[in-house]
This record gives sequence, C-alpha cells and structure tokens, in this order.
Amino acid sequence: MTQISQADADARHVKRSDYQSCTVAFIDCKKPGSHLKQNYSIIGPGVTSSTEQVINLPEAHGFNIGAAAMPTGITNNLHIHFTAEVFMVYEGEYTFRWGSNGENEFVGRPGDILSIPTWIFRGFTNTGEGEGWVFTTLGGDNTGGVIFHPDIIREAADYGLYISKNNVLIDSQNGDPVPTEDQCIAPMADDDVAKLRSYTPEEMRERVVTTDDRDFRPAFIDMALEGCGAEIAPVIGHGITQNRDHTARIRNPHGFSMEWLRLQPGQSVSAFTLSEKMVVIPREGGVRLALNETGDVSVDLGAWDTCSVPSGVLRSLQNVSAAPVEVLVVVSGDQQKRPRFRSDVIEAAFAHGYALDAQGYVASAHLIPNYGMVAE
Ligand SMILES: [Fe+2]
Repeated sequence: MTQISQADADARHVKRSDYQSCTVAFIDCKKPGSHLKQNYSIIGPGVTSSTEQVINLPEAHGFNIGAAAMPTGITNNLHIHFTAEVFMVYEGEYTFRWGSNGENEFVGRPGDILSIPTWIFRGFTNTGEGEGWVFTTLGGDNTGGVIFHPDIIREAADYGLYISKNNVLIDSQNGDPVPTEDQCIAPMADDDVAKLRSYTPEEMRERVVTTDDRDFRPAFIDMALEGCGAEIAPVIGHGITQNRDHTARIRNPHGFSMEWLRLQPGQSVSAFTLSEKMVVIPREGGVRLALNETGDVSVDLGAWDTCSVPSGVLRSLQNVSAAPVEVLVVVSGDQQKRPRFRSDVIEAAFAHGYALDAQGYVASAHLIPNYGMVAE
C-alpha cells in the first residue's frame, strides 16, 4: 500500500484561501462587462491563455479543475471546448447560454451541475444578487484550449488583444508587437459555425443534475456498520459507488467521473484505496480525510477546498461537523472505479449480511455463491 507523508498530503490540499485569480486569462478580458472575471486554475492549467496564471497543483490528473468568480452582471463570452466542460455552481446564480449566438439558456444555482457538450459555443453570466463562484472540470490533461466566438475575436482587436495559434494572449497595449493575421487564430467562418450541432433546452436538461435531481443512496459495503452508511448521488459516468442501482444521468465519456457524497454528522466512509486519483471538493466544511493504514496523516477540509488523494493510498472520510456535508468526488477515467476496503471492513460487513458481488457491488451475502471455477 502506498504511504503518504503529512507534508505530501498538505501539498495536495489546496485551501480556498490558496486559490489565486488571474484577470487576464482570456481574449475577452478587456471587453466591458467581462473585464471583472476572475479565472482560477486549481488542478492543471485548464484553458487559460495567460502566462501569469498561477496553477495550484500542476500535476496531471487526467482532468483539470478550475473556477470562475465574477460580480453580478459580468459575462464569460461564447467559446468552444474540445473536451468536456462541466460547471459546478457553488455560490450565486449563473445563467449559462449555448448555441451559435448563445440563444439558449439554463439558470444554475448552488449545487447544480451542468455538462456542456464539446464543439458548441457556450458562455455564462452571473445573474445573481452578489458574487458568484462556479468550479469547472475539464476533460483530459491537455484540453486543447478554446475557440472564441468570431465576434469576440474581432472585437478584442479593438482593445489590442489577439490570440496566437498556440493559445497565448497577445496584448499590444501592453507592449507586445501586433501580430500578423497568420500568427493568430482566425475568427471561425460562418460556414463552419453553421455546421456546429445545436442542442435544444430539453436535450441540455438531460446534461444537468440539479440538487433536486440527485438520487442519494447508501453507497458502500460498510453501509450497515456503526457510524457508516454514507450516501452517493452519481452525476457523471461510473464513479466509486458500490450500489448497483446507481446510474449517472450524464454518461458520455468525460475522462472522469463525478459524484456527490453525503455524510451525516459523525458519519464516515471506511478506509479504502483506489487505483485512480481522487479529488474532493466539499460544499461545507468539517470533513476530515484520514490517510494511511493508521490514519496517522490527516487533512481537515474547509468548505470549497480542493484536495487530491493519490492512487493506492488508504483514505477514509468523516464528517466531524454538526451538520450534514456534501462532498464533490471527481475520479480520473471513464471506467467503473473499484474501491478496495480493508479486510476488517469486509469481514464486519459480512457479519451484517453484506458482501461484494463479482462486479464489485454490494449484495446480500447469503445470495452470493462461492464460484470455484476461476484459476487462482
Ligand atoms: Fe469554458
């Protein structure tokens, strides 16, 4: 089993206060109405175009996690992504728009998650009363950057901003030489825009998991044990749940899975390992992550902190607060994840009548035959 030191665990715990914004990340950063947008790169660079962007945890995870914060009325303009772009609203009200001219919209509120398909234009505006905060998860280590809407690229030139072919922002008002046309990403032609797929609001609704849509069910083999019984609500793909009745609403390949984990006060998930990297982002504070066989290393997660647990490390999660907590769990890969619980947990679960079937899902122990036809 992989051991982790306290120093390594602390380095992988990015506190909310460690997030560092960049206001010159994108080509629309000088456009009135977009200039107050703050971009964060928490895990991986995301799609930033700025060399000034601080990346808290540059290590490759198979996905990128970042955030956008903006005051009321500020807009992130229409652009295309090549890999999954998932929005997790943590604060405020965001109106997401999509389509060739942003003609469709969905209003997201705290706890809502929306996955916008690749190769369509999308943007969003803080339409709430105050500050807003939306985390984003992007598929892949290399997202390939973005393509901004042709109108945005043309308008940016009025402010001396250009985007180079390798996705770096050129600011001629800041001393950069004005690039030639063939050094820049050209505005997408009308013909190409017309060929992009359109999604109706009804189709997009299938790619949204609101707080009310969530289907929380007991998720792990330890569900009958004292102080256990944590619940999961799947959001995207195949995650760590061991409940065979769980199905995520959003199922096309993203390169990662996403689930909500809900813990009641005092409740724990028993120690388990995973082969993949696992990132957790609690909505509320008061979650303790204990690591290694003896739990000798631990991290106390505050609300909105991001923490990455490496593969192979034994980890348990406990709600040490007096209120229920919800934790977003993001794990790399599209495959079903297979948590491996300690043998004492498996034995205690068996004593309560539960065992894991051959697919790794919880079942009544008395129904599982001892199938002896497999070569050891
Ligand atoms: Fe984006």
